[in-house]
Amino acid sequence: MKKFILLLMMVLTFAIFTATVSGATHQYVGPKKCKMCHRIEFKSWNATPHAKATEVLPKDKKSDPKCLECHATTKDIPEVTCEACHGPGKDYKKGSVMRKRDLAIKKGLVIPDEKTCLKCHDSKKCKHVKGFDYKKMFKDGVHQFKHKK
Ligand code: HEC
Ligand code: HEC
Ligand code: HEC
Ligand code: HEC
Repeated sequence: MKKFILLLMMVLTFAIFTATVSGATHQYVGPKKCKMCHRIEFKSWNATPHAKATEVLPKDKKSDPKCLECHATTKDIPEVTCEACHGPGKDYKKGSVMRKRDLAIKKGLVIPDEKTCLKCHDSKKCKHVKGFDYKKMFKDGVHQFKHKK
């Protein structure tokens, strides 16, 4: 019996260990860290409604998790920042990683597409969200995408 319990514990420990390693979660660093190297993108992002997504909430809703799910990046990082679309940056933000696109992607960098936007721009999740037309909203210039232009 003792042996069995020991074995069970070993199996469990191993299972938890592999789950932690394979599901590696990356940490968020905030937009100022990206600004260092991406000034142009920062400036263009900062002029979009995403940079005011938390600010526009009514006072009593600014820390309501139900609103912050779409109106912030994490509960500690206000506004819809770089990492809400490009993924948490702690592991890919180093220049030596960033210069190797595949490596950066392995370390959590997301090249956003329509699905990225629909995490939040989904009228089924929240009534005040309007229909989402990716091509139009992407091109509108509201985000000034491509950031560089
Ligand atoms: C130390 C400088 C540095 C920091 C800090 C940095 N980057 Fe980068 N990033 C680069 C370089 C260099 C490239 C390679 C492409 C280029 O030359 O513009 C790049 C490329 C990118 C790309 C384009 C990927 C592609 O190929 O389409 C994205 C998106 C990106 N970075 C997002 C971010 C975000 C978000 C942050 C903050 C979490 C960040 N970066 C922080 C230097 C940096
Ligand atoms: C499913 C994601 C989602 C949730 C949850 C959500 N919102 Fe929104 N909200 C949006 C999006 C996306 C917009 C932009 C409007 C659009 O074009 O669809 C928006 C717009 C707004 C605006 C208008 C901002 C402006 O500039 O005029 C207010 C105010 C607002 N939301 C408040 C709230 C409050 C309060 C909550 C919580 C009770 C909440 N939202 C929850 C996604 C969400
Ligand atoms: C609302 C989502 C969103 C936010 C917020 C956002 N980006 Fe982007 N970003 C995109 C999309 C979409 C692309 C274009 C991807 C492609 O080429 O298909 C892009 C492209 C880029 C690129 C590639 C080169 C370029 O300029 O087009 C860089 C670098 C970048 N973003 C950095 C940033 C940084 C830094 C921030 C924050 C200051 C940021 N992004 C905020 C969605 C976003
Ligand atoms: C984390 C949630 C989130 C993600 C991801 C996101 N958005 Fe948004 N978006 C919002 C919120 C919240 C607002 C409203 C902010 C405000 O009014 O200040 C908004 C506003 C906008 C607006 C302005 C709408 C208007 O009526 O003025 C456009 C355009 C837009 N987003 C396009 C995009 C695109 C394109 C993507 C994907 C590349 C994207 N968004 C990804 C949450 C998000």
